[in-house]
Amino acid sequence: MKKLAVFVSGRGSNLKSIVSKIESNHLNAQILAVVSNKSDSPALEYAKDKLISTFVISTKEPNGVHDYKSLLNIFKDLSIDLIVLAGFLKKIPDYFVDAFENRIINIHPALLPSFGGKGMYGMNVHRAVFESSAKVSGATVHFVNKVYDEGLIIAQRAVDISDVQTPEDISARVLNTEHELLPFVIDLFSKERIKIVNNRVVYT
Ligand code: GRF
Repeated sequence: MKKLAVFVSGRGSNLKSIVSKIESNHLNAQILAVVSNKSDSPALEYAKDKLISTFVISTKEPNGVHDYKSLLNIFKDLSIDLIVLAGFLKKIPDYFVDAFENRIINIHPALLPSFGGKGMYGMNVHRAVFESSAKVSGATVHFVNKVYDEGLIIAQRAVDISDVQTPEDISARVLNTEHELLPFVIDLFSKERIKIVNNRVVYT
């Protein structure tokens, strides 16, 4: 059974969707750690309610927090197999990416490589999509490398937004898709079905 660490910054709806799939036996994995850069993140409270170990990562917040170096040792002790960024808004240090090469994934609320990169998170993404008059948007799960939102794409799912009235409409439709796409990718990983062939991600 694959061991996961999930990184969050906000409300944690993607974390909840992963937990729900695990609890309903639709995903054979276990979450051993939830990490946030915000000590007051609702996602951390949810993890505590689920009796999942939580860690606050920061170089600024007061005592009781961890830095990435200590987290790396903790993850090795826990034998973490996969790191899932689920609404995590900070860049992962390069040495951490190297230590978990092709074992860190991120969910982005648009169809990369469009509408991605530094500053493109949350409603910024959906406003940019709305203002472009795009007729489809969607979600992307990709490997995390050393450049924001540029790792190899693992999976995508498009949603029709031709009839939306606001960026919030886009956000709601894309979020529903995220809640299915991220567990789908974690399930592929748990079954060791994700391979990289000629620099493309394929499912075996
Ligand atoms: C999601 O839209 C995700 O794509 C983006 O941040 C949001 C996180 O939402 N990276 P939640 O915290 O999982 O509800």
